[in-house]
Amino acid sequence: MAAMTEPAAPWALLAELTHACPLHCPYCSNPLELVRRGTELAAGEWARVFAEAADLGVVQAHISGGEPLLRPDLERIVAAAHAAGVYTQLVTSGLGLTAGRLDALTGAGIDSVQLSVQDADPANSDLIAGRTSHTAKERAAGVIRAAGVPFGLNVVLHRHNLDRLPEIIAMGERWGADRVELANAQFYGWALRNRDVLLPTREQLERAKRTVAAHRAKPGGPELVWVLPDYHEGVPKPCMGGWGARSITVAPDGTALPCPAAYAMADLRPPNVRDHPLSWIWQSSDAFNAYRGTAWMSGPCGECPRRETDFGGCRCQAYALTGDASRTDPACALSPDHHLVRDRAVRAERDGGAAPQFVYRRPANARE
Ligand code: SF4
Ligand code: FES
Repeated sequence: MAAMTEPAAPWALLAELTHACPLHCPYCSNPLELVRRGTELAAGEWARVFAEAADLGVVQAHISGGEPLLRPDLERIVAAAHAAGVYTQLVTSGLGLTAGRLDALTGAGIDSVQLSVQDADPANSDLIAGRTSHTAKERAAGVIRAAGVPFGLNVVLHRHNLDRLPEIIAMGERWGADRVELANAQFYGWALRNRDVLLPTREQLERAKRTVAAHRAKPGGPELVWVLPDYHEGVPKPCMGGWGARSITVAPDGTALPCPAAYAMADLRPPNVRDHPLSWIWQSSDAFNAYRGTAWMSGPCGECPRRETDFGGCRCQAYALTGDASRTDPACALSPDHHLVRDRAVRAERDGGAAPQFVYRRPANARE
């Protein structure tokens, strides 16, 4: 299928260097089946991807994973992105980020660092990560601050840390973050397995929104980014800014996707950067054109005045919950599948105080 009109240039590239990760977070959005290390793109292949991305118009690359620090050739990969002229952000758990490694990475061209943290309470942070890690993250924050690179903190929010939002924001200030991304958990990939223990209550979310508004009204402090939760609102998120509209994800094995979570879509048949130039992938591949624009929409989206605003919501969520990515996102109150979301949100209200029984992201659990 060819695009009706040539799509606008992509703005960002998410470069997933590896799915390997030292943490075991229950909200991981990576697919259930992870890419094996032996099939990862080599540094030279990444260099070609960055050069082609820059030619296509990409201005920003997020160097991510899994944990990108596990790649011994990370500095070479970063240098290639820098040489291509794109702004490069390292997205890391912080485990293994020493002053020496960060010095080498900034020397290679890293422009900013985003550090993930699980909670402000160290014991709960370690519980969520499935291992001791909070102290190492605090140390990594110090290393980033000392290096003087722009510093963002990312915290995935859910039932078991939302009530500590004031402390989480205070931690961001204390650690010297320029920006704190408060990312309400999204439920695809591994996170779907843990949905019932992670879903917050409506009251938790309302309190959290008031906390964010109060902090935004105060002068100073880090910039707060609030990533919308969608199970309680009846309103879908404009996911990815539209399918194939703004960014390209390249998975560790070279699979090119319009969205990182789309790796799970069994019938998408995504192209691979090993087989095709990125320009063809962006402009002409079936996978990137599948849900571009509005012509593919059926059901309530087809006639809806919001279809150019939210793009029918999230394709990955529609696929994960209904098995059909072309259906209206069940998060939308107008969707005939909305009960799939509403019933879970109601259950979260009922079970709001339940103790966390996470299914951790570990190989043994993947085989279950
Ligand atoms: Fe958005 Fe479709 Fe729902 Fe309309 S019907 S609000 S376009 S998801
Ligand atoms: Fe893939 Fe929403 S997460 S389109």
